[in-house]
Order: sequence, then C-alpha cells, then structure tokens
Amino acid sequence: MDAQSDFPVYQDDSKPMEERIEDALHRMTLEEKVAMCHAQSKFSSAGVPRLGIPDNWATDGPHGIRAEGLWDKWDQAEWTNDSCIAFPALTCLAATWNPEMSLLYGKSIGEEARYRNKNILLGPGVNIYRTPLNGRNFEYMGEDPLLASRMVVPYVRGVQENGVAACVKHFALNNQEINRHSVNVNVSDRALYEIYLPAFKAAVQEGQAWAVMGAYNLYKGQHCCHNQYLLNDILRREWGFDGVVISDWGGTYDTKQAAYNGLDMEFGTGTNGLTTGVVNAYDDYFLSKPFLRMLQAGEIDEKIVDDKVRNILRMVFRTNMNKHRPWGLFGTAEHALTGRQIAQEGIVLLQNKRSLLPIDLNGVGKILVVGENALKMMTVGGGSSSLKAKYEISPLDGLRKRVGNQVEVVYTPGYISRSSGNNNEVTAEAIELAKDADLVIFIGGLNKDDFQDCEDSDRKNLGLPYGQDQVIEELSKVNKNIVVVIISGNAVAMPWIDKVPAVVQGWYLGTEAGNALASILVGDVNPSGKLPMTYGVNLNDYGSHALGEYPGGKEETYHEGIFVGYRWFEKQKIRPLFPFGHGLSYTTFSYGKASASSKVITGSDELNVSLPVRNTGSREGKEVVQLYVRDVKSSVERPYKELKAFRKIHLKAGEEKHVDFTVTVDDLKYFDEEKHDWIAEPGRFEILIGSSSADIRSVVGFELKQQ
Ligand code: GLC
Repeated sequence: MDAQSDFPVYQDDSKPMEERIEDALHRMTLEEKVAMCHAQSKFSSAGVPRLGIPDNWATDGPHGIRAEGLWDKWDQAEWTNDSCIAFPALTCLAATWNPEMSLLYGKSIGEEARYRNKNILLGPGVNIYRTPLNGRNFEYMGEDPLLASRMVVPYVRGVQENGVAACVKHFALNNQEINRHSVNVNVSDRALYEIYLPAFKAAVQEGQAWAVMGAYNLYKGQHCCHNQYLLNDILRREWGFDGVVISDWGGTYDTKQAAYNGLDMEFGTGTNGLTTGVVNAYDDYFLSKPFLRMLQAGEIDEKIVDDKVRNILRMVFRTNMNKHRPWGLFGTAEHALTGRQIAQEGIVLLQNKRSLLPIDLNGVGKILVVGENALKMMTVGGGSSSLKAKYEISPLDGLRKRVGNQVEVVYTPGYISRSSGNNNEVTAEAIELAKDADLVIFIGGLNKDDFQDCEDSDRKNLGLPYGQDQVIEELSKVNKNIVVVIISGNAVAMPWIDKVPAVVQGWYLGTEAGNALASILVGDVNPSGKLPMTYGVNLNDYGSHALGEYPGGKEETYHEGIFVGYRWFEKQKIRPLFPFGHGLSYTTFSYGKASASSKVITGSDELNVSLPVRNTGSREGKEVVQLYVRDVKSSVERPYKELKAFRKIHLKAGEEKHVDFTVTVDDLKYFDEEKHDWIAEPGRFEILIGSSSADIRSVVGFELKQQ
C-alpha cells in the first residue's frame, strides 16, 4: 500500500497510467487475466471483482445507444428507461462537412453512453464507400479518405471526453456485406494506404481512439480480427496504437491467431454476430479455456496475455476507473436538438430548378405528400445500429407541424414496399390527388429493410425499389411542381431527374428527422450539406463495378485500386449524376481568385492559399469551400485531383470573407509501394478550389522544388 494514498496504486488515478497498469497486472491471477480477454455476455467482458476492477460494457452503435439486451441473447431486455436519442446516420454527419458538428455529435452520443454506464461505444464506422450497394454505407463517412479523416477525429474526441472509449470500426476493408465473414480482400498497398486506412489512422493518431474493432473479412488470408499485418504491423507498430483491439461479434476463429495476431478482446463467438444468439459457452471462446490451457502448458508465453491485459487495463483506467469523468446525460432535449442541427446541416439540396424550394407558403394551398418514407420510422432497422428511440418525428408529421395551420397537407402512399412493384391502385390514387395539389412532395428512397441499406445484405442494384421510379414519372406528368426527397444512406439512380425540378437528399435523420426536413423545405434553414460520395447514373459508372471485382467470392480484388469515387469518375471522364462535394443553397456564393504565398516551395515549406468568398444572394447561408490538389506531372498514375482541405463558412447576405488554407508537402504525397513510404515528387502542382469536385472556381499553380 502506497504511504501517500489509502488506495493501492492501480486505484489511484493520480498515479501514472503505466504504473497503475503494472500494479494491477501483478495482482491478477492467470485465470483473471484470461477472463478479461473474452466476453462473459453478449456485450460485456469480465473485470476483476476481487480487485474492484469493473466489468467492461460495450454498446452499439454509431448513431445512438442501443437498447439493453439480454445477458446472453440478442433479444431486448425490455427495460423502460433505455430509449435513446437517435442521431442522424454518419453519412449525414459526413454530409455536413463540418467538424464542429462531429465534435458535438461525439460529445452528445458519448454523454448518452456514459449515462447508460457503457464504457465502450461500438462506433464510429469509417469504411470507405467503394460501391453504392454496400448495405452499411449509411453507417460510414463517404468515399473520400480526407473527408472521413477530418470528420471522424472530432467524433472520437467528443465521445472520449465522457470517459467512454470510441471503438472505430471495421478495421479494415469491410466495404460490402455480401460474404463479409469470408471474403479475402486483395488490394494494392497503394490503395490500402491512400484510400482505406487514412480515416482509421486519423482516428487513432489524431483522435487518440482507445479501441478499434476488427472487421469480419480477411486480408492477406487472415481474418481481420486477428491479423498480423493490420493489427501488429500497421496499427501497433506503424501507428503506435495503445488501445484495445476488439473482435467483431463472431469474428474470431483461432486461439493461436487471436493470441499472436493482435486481438485483445473476443466478443460474439458462437453467434452469427447478429441475429441468432445462442446460449454461448463463454468458456469455449478461443481466448477462454483453450487460451488458458495453452498458457498453463507453456505453449503460449504469459507475456502474450499480459500485453492484452495491459491494453484492456489502459482502457479501463481511461474509462470506468477514471474518477474524473463526467456523469453523462441521456435522452435530453438538448441531444435531440443537436441531432436536428446535424440533420439540418447534412441534408443536401441536389437540384432546385425554378427555385421551387423553399416552399412559398403564401403561394401554396394544398400540398400532397406521397411515399412510404414520409411515415416510416428510420431509427429502427438496418442491423446492429438499430435503435429504440425516445421518439422520432416522421417527415409527414414534421411538415404538418410546420405548415399545417397555413396549408392543407394530404398524404397518400403512392407505392407499397411489400408489393412486388404492382402498385397500380395506390399509384392511381396518388396521381388523382396530385392533379389538384399546388405542390407534390414525394418522399421515398431506401428503408433499412434487407437489401435496402441494411447490415448483412447489399443492395441488388442502384435503382429505387418498389416501383418508385414509375410513381415519380407518373406524378411528374400531372404536376410540374414536384419535389423528390430521397431518404437513404446510399446513392440511388434517378432516371426521372430531368422531369422533376427539385431533389433533396435526406439521409436517415434520426429522432428529429421530420422537423429537420421541414425546416429545410420551408426555408427556415438554408441547406448547406454537400455529398460525401459520388452519385453515378449507372452502376457501371463506378470502378468497383466497371472493373470489379464485386462482390467477388472467397477472393475479391479491388482492381480499381486508388480510383474510388470521384477519382474514378474523373479518370474515366464519366459525368456523374451529382458529383462528390455537390450541394446547393437558397443563396449563391461567388469565389474570388485564389492566391498562394509562393510560386515555389521546398520540402519543409508550407503554402498559404487564400481567396475571398462572397454571399451574393439575398439570405444568409453556409458554404463548404473545397481545396483539391493536382500533381500535374508524376512518375506514377495519380488521380486527376484529390481533396486535401475544406472549410465550412457562414456568410450573411452580401458578406465576404477570406478563406485561408495551409497546404503542406504531405498534401502532395502519394504512397510508394517499393519504398513503403509517402513521396512528394518535385514538379508542378495545382491547387483547385471549388464548391464541389466538379465546380472548380479558382486554380493556382506552384512548383515543388527538390529539397
Ligand atoms: C455486428 C456488427 C458490428 C456491431 C457488432 C455488435 O455484427 O458488424 O458493427 O458493433 O456486431 O452488435
């Protein structure tokens, strides 16, 4: 017992972390160490009751705190005090292009996890949007590594300021749901380092994430939950990660691989990771009795389990044995308003011909709302991110609440998701009603059912399901004033795009969905979201489908390499339906000429780039100024340009601000596979600044000189 304190060292959080860890470790028996390395229930693992070290409690998910489950089954425990605030899906957060929203999001969801006494939040997800069919893209942050990196860091920090570990997932290359437990992904080192790793690296090195979840798939023939290359070589050695590696549920397959290839905590073994929970004999877990027996027999050195327990204790001392952490908040009006604000900043105005939006409430007597997604609860479904929300305002309810006392709002489904597309009757009714409506608002999209943005299943095609395209076409024939609102987590094909004046991308918007959407449609809030991924016209516009392989079989090769998203569209000169970074406003912005602090830089210099942006419209608004870098001439094939910075600014009508960026040599680099290092080749570069990847407003060139 330490003289200065009544507590043993490991309980004294005034002591250095590593001292506390060693003190606790040396007090633990081998059985207690092994017990820490695997689940004892669906979502918890053992602490050390004898030493007062608490159990670890994990919870899904990235959008809100999952309802309490039964100890050993996937069923809900039916508590009456665990209805959470459902925040918008992470694709909506990415679409805000506003790191301040990420910090607010992380802080708020962390408060909810803390209040529910969970010390591990199983999120955020940052797998890159390689195909628009991936069932879980709605849980991730888009197609670009820089955008995902900038948006994940504040989320992680916000969560962890509550003394809750963010568990960044799914590490790595989990870019589809088909064959997710078995597909071995083959990808070039260049694509791995330039596209698929950066957001995880940023979460670990800048966000200081305290936990990482291994993915289900394989890489280089090893399951990602125990993978020498990803976990030992990259995550630990190259990035210096000091947190805990947790398996995905059911992602562990072998004791020795789990022991030696970087796994610290095994969860979900013996279930399919999602639905059929069985009364799992936790002693049969790979890191349970089999592991203990090998340690006792000397087949595995005790140092191996000690290193795992060190990582776990470090997380414990950072979380549920950190006496200074806050107490959390749960289900609050503030959290709901935070969700609404994020949704409002993430909704994307894709098209607005004739300035049909915002709705002119004085010029409209009757609005017809068509579509199942006007009513459908979207906080449920989709797999492990499904929530028991305290409440959810549907788009129809939100609109009625906002305009109901001024405008008649009539609703009709227009299509039925359970039908096989023969919606004749309900469509006919919608067409009739549309004939004498002043405005038609079609609210459709996907709905988190199987194959429609849902875990464990990918979409089967790019199109809208349930005959929605036909309904939209028919409506547009009888009423020119039609707004289409797509509720989805993925791009969808829009064959009717030239027949409707206004299109809004509404994501899965969470608890305050209807209020957020209504505020954008009526113009209380000026839309400022930008697409975090490219919308193609056809599926084969995407490199993963044009070149494949997708979905692959036991093996899958990412033949498109680094050319993901706009990188591919620009390489192939394919005109997208809507480009990466696109999003309109109810006002307009003019960009002045960008200037650079120098025409020539060397390896250690920074280039300061500045330009004036003015709000040239009649109302305030936010704009995302995007900075791309182009390597004009390189010895390796590079994308035409790559996003390297962005700034979201607020401008009053008529206001002008100078937007400043600092470009470093790191922003000019590509990953050289032979050197296994990042290289910036001397030569000419260009900075391209725009309102989207396809709307470049100013270009400024400079030279990188050999050091
Ligand atoms: C699921 C998901 C993972 C989730 C975990 C626990 O299979 O892949 O994201 O956190 O199991 O529900």
